[in-house]
Amino acid sequence: MASPVFPEIERVLFTEEQVAARIREVAGEISAKYRGRDLKLIAVLKGAVFFLTELARAIEIPVKIDFLAISSFGNGAPGMVRIAKDLDDPIQDEDVLLVEDIVDTGFTTRFLLQTLAGRAPRSIGICTLLDRTVRRIVQVPIDFRCFEIPDRFVVGCGLDYKQHYRNLGSIAVLKQN
Ligand code: IMP
Ligand code: MG
Repeated sequence: MASPVFPEIERVLFTEEQVAARIREVAGEISAKYRGRDLKLIAVLKGAVFFLTELARAIEIPVKIDFLAISSFGNGAPGMVRIAKDLDDPIQDEDVLLVEDIVDTGFTTRFLLQTLAGRAPRSIGICTLLDRTVRRIVQVPIDFRCFEIPDRFVVGCGLDYKQHYRNLGSIAVLKQN
């Protein structure tokens, strides 16, 4: 769907309808697992915000939400991240679900998991929109995942290329230059 609006798109992996349907399925699994509990969804700005809002609307139990932001240091070496904006509230004794846009090497997710686990939540789980297991370097336990993707850079549904394409409704592969 190369278009004047999105000229760098090579092909669509998952259409907007497929993404919406799959998010509803996973939201159903989450609702079933956490029914009767007090769930807090936590997402990292900015990529996972799109997924979190769609997921939260499809979850059928009450949820709270909170956000944090991270930034890289050390010349962008993998895993060298720090918290740039922290959560608004403590998570002690809460059931926390970390909502990720993509788990790639796993370094970012592991950092987040360790950071949040240190704050004594009642439980902590991981839900990711995309999982690229072929590039995994550190193992992280993923509880819910919408799609496994091949070893290509993707955009859409919050994922960016140089801050663009986050508002693309589908998940698409960028042209290789
Ligand atoms: P990890 O630490 O290698 O797992 O990388 C996770 C982060 O890299 C994600 O939160 C994204 O911001 C970014 N990222 C990894 N792969 C892609 C991609 O295909 N498209 C857009 N961003 C990506
Ligand atoms: Mg990014």
